[in-house]
Amino acid sequence: MKIPAPLRRQLESAARRAAKASYSPYSKFRVGAAVLTGSGRIYAGTNVENASYGLCNCAERTAIFTAAAAGERVVKAVAVYTPTRAATAPCGACRQVINEFGPDALVISVCDSQDRLEAPLNQLLPVAFGPAQLKGRKKQ
Ligand code: THU
Repeated sequence: MKIPAPLRRQLESAARRAAKASYSPYSKFRVGAAVLTGSGRIYAGTNVENASYGLCNCAERTAIFTAAAAGERVVKAVAVYTPTRAATAPCGACRQVINEFGPDALVISVCDSQDRLEAPLNQLLPVAFGPAQLKGRKKQ
């Protein structure tokens, strides 16, 4: 998916800004994410951890759930920022959640060096399970 350069820069800075609010006292790994939706709006999110570690929520999912809660149903691109030397790709759970609204979304990971990753979601999550598979189910 082609995203114009100014919009892409906006998306990346929204992800960088979002990391500042990261609640990550356990991992101390700050992550910021931002999604560009079908309406052209940008929604940001950060990772929110919990004393019950398994309940930690990634930045990407926070951003996507925020967009969905605002009524958005199409994700065109996702930017992820980590304050690291190498760019961080989204975890498997987040890839699945991105797939729900953006099977062809562009995923961009940026960090504190020039390193960056850019790949369409369908490359990060090939042969995905999604809404289309449920449509093919047999009636019980
Ligand atoms: N994390 C994210 O926010 N996004 C990812 O794609 C990978 C991991 C968060 C979850 C947890 O708060 C911390 O990073 C360490 O795993």
